[in-house]
Amino acid sequence: MKFRPIVLSLIILSISCSERSEVDRRVDALLSQMTLDEKIGQMNQLDYGSVNSEIIAAGKAGSVLNCVDAARINELQRAAVEESRLGIPLLMARDVIHGFHTVFPIPLGQAATFDAALVEEGARIAAKEATSHGVRWTFSPMVDIARDARWGRIAESFGEDSYLASVLGAAMVRGYQGNELSSPTSMAACAKHFAGYGASEGGRDYNTANIPERVLRNSYLPPFQACADEGAATFMTSFNDVNGVPSTANRWLLDEVLRGEWGWDGMIVTDWNSAGELIAHGVAADLKDAAELSVNAGVDMDMMSYSFIGNVSALVKEGKLQEKQIDDAVRRILKLKFELGLFEQPYIDESNAGASDYCEEHLAAAKKAALESAVLLKNEGVLPLKEGSTVLVCGPMADASHDQLGTWAPDGQESHSITALMGLSKLFNVIYEPVLEYSRDYDMGNFAALKAKALRSDAIIMLAGEEAILSGEAHSLADVKLQGAQREFIDALSKLGKPLVTVVMAGRPLEIEQELEDSDAMIYSFHPGTMGGEALAELISGRAVPSGKLPVSFVHSSGQYPFYYNHSNTGRPNQGNETLIGDLPLKAGQVSNGCTSYYLDAGYGELLPFGYGLSYTSFKYSNITLSSNELHSDDVLKVEFELTNSGDYDADEVAMLFIQDLVGSIVRPVKELKRFERVSLKAGESKHICFELPIKELAFYGLDNIFKVEAGNFKLWVAGNSADGEAIPFKVI
Ligand code: GLC
Repeated sequence: MKFRPIVLSLIILSISCSERSEVDRRVDALLSQMTLDEKIGQMNQLDYGSVNSEIIAAGKAGSVLNCVDAARINELQRAAVEESRLGIPLLMARDVIHGFHTVFPIPLGQAATFDAALVEEGARIAAKEATSHGVRWTFSPMVDIARDARWGRIAESFGEDSYLASVLGAAMVRGYQGNELSSPTSMAACAKHFAGYGASEGGRDYNTANIPERVLRNSYLPPFQACADEGAATFMTSFNDVNGVPSTANRWLLDEVLRGEWGWDGMIVTDWNSAGELIAHGVAADLKDAAELSVNAGVDMDMMSYSFIGNVSALVKEGKLQEKQIDDAVRRILKLKFELGLFEQPYIDESNAGASDYCEEHLAAAKKAALESAVLLKNEGVLPLKEGSTVLVCGPMADASHDQLGTWAPDGQESHSITALMGLSKLFNVIYEPVLEYSRDYDMGNFAALKAKALRSDAIIMLAGEEAILSGEAHSLADVKLQGAQREFIDALSKLGKPLVTVVMAGRPLEIEQELEDSDAMIYSFHPGTMGGEALAELISGRAVPSGKLPVSFVHSSGQYPFYYNHSNTGRPNQGNETLIGDLPLKAGQVSNGCTSYYLDAGYGELLPFGYGLSYTSFKYSNITLSSNELHSDDVLKVEFELTNSGDYDADEVAMLFIQDLVGSIVRPVKELKRFERVSLKAGESKHICFELPIKELAFYGLDNIFKVEAGNFKLWVAGNSADGEAIPFKVI
């Protein structure tokens, strides 16, 4: 009956409204009993190493981060619930960024899967494991757009594309928060770092970020808005200043945009001492100033600066802050605690802590993520290698049980890692000679021993990459190259007359042009997590087929950063015929060279484009049709096509839809990803695919800073990456 859904939705709406009003009623009732000091205590988040039961019983903290011991959490919770005056439970938080005990690929690797369902499943698994230990709030997803691989935190991001980061960020929010926040296996998500952190100048962490408002709105904010729209319970402010105003004191960002324009009413926490850092930024004279600025900007909870607990009471008494502001902040904190069910069930069942950690289902999902996140960059007919053949396994990442977990895996246990050596030993006759013991190792002393062993092998597998500590927070590089003697090592291996397969496990896209040249095949697996080695072995043996696609552009040289595929055209776009430095004539005249936007010593474009990734099979895109070539802003464009697996292996392909707005009131990107779909196809199989694109999704902030679609000529491409495909015109009228 067609009316049933309407009636049903009205019932659900009325229930949820009554539930929401029930929570609001309970919050107000509790708030009305609280003293100012008790309210301020709720706004204070302390690290586990800085708390004890006395502090909690005195109501001096509303949240504790970094405690993952169930018994200790219950102890602290008892102090809050049974010893403090009002018994308000604690909110226990942790950085569960890409898995808890079962570690998934780093988010940049998960982005390479282009598989939102898998990313959501990974977050759900992380939530099940973390909540069983007492964690009910994770500081994830990180949805900063990263266009500069010198920035170590690109590892935690979903890469350079706003649409991809929006889809995957929202998927993680769903995974963490589940269907009901009150479920004991749900934990509050936290969209971070709001905002513009990925644009830290020079890729140097914590550095200033100068982002014109239109660029901020069109490129950096959409993934955060996607998380807000998905119902992310919390946001975290970023360390950086945005155009001179640190995010933690940025009222425009937090109050006008996030709360005002987006209508988001969740809870905002600072980053670690980012309120205190307002002093170093030079916008606050002292912690009291910092507290006033942060609360006035819209911050609800202060992580580890002690500025709120130490100053807000005085600021209220001096009339510099209104108690209503404090009430609003505390209301949001209490609402989250009620919604998480902490008042009904503050304690965790210690006997159940870790019950599902590393279970078969979780490991299988982590392995699937490791399989799908691996990107085949080159294969000169070498892969897959014949199972049972003799392979020489070498390199610093071959048996890297700790480092393959990647950055921000504080609860990952290397004892559970399946390393590449372990995985390959199951499927091949392995001779192992690492030579380089770790990624920064310069000592190739054992190369002679390796040479002798190489003669007995059918192929060489070099596991290269970065130790986990070389990416992540505070780990920026001026030159994103393979460290130690890895480049020389790969060059030497390439001269041994054996097929050379190089695998790179890294937290960022590295400069690998020479290594790619030297290798007969290359798989880029980012940091693949607990099951990385098993996944790699199956990919190398052909039991699985590589299907990952690059979520970031790879460049020739670090000097090209920031680099991203969805750039503006400039007035002097590359013509592809520029003279490089080695070809410049002597005594060349002033304008002897193509005056376009490029580098004499690195050319113009990328080494490998966004979306790039090979397979053991091949795919054909055909019969691309549009529902119309002329559309209005409230229409939906349907793009249909046949996708055929024209090779010999069953495999997945990630099909992508890009558009270009040819003429706008401001310059527009040369390409923008608007849809993607991972499609499984048996050898020879074809599938009919349809992308539906509402024209309103072509809206952007233009010259007048109003978010709208601008009529005009467009192009679209359907392809497997950002560089392929034929342009198809359409019009918005
Ligand atoms: C760190 C990070 C942030 C993390 C927080 C708590 O400094 O910037 O991403 O969630 O502190 O560990």
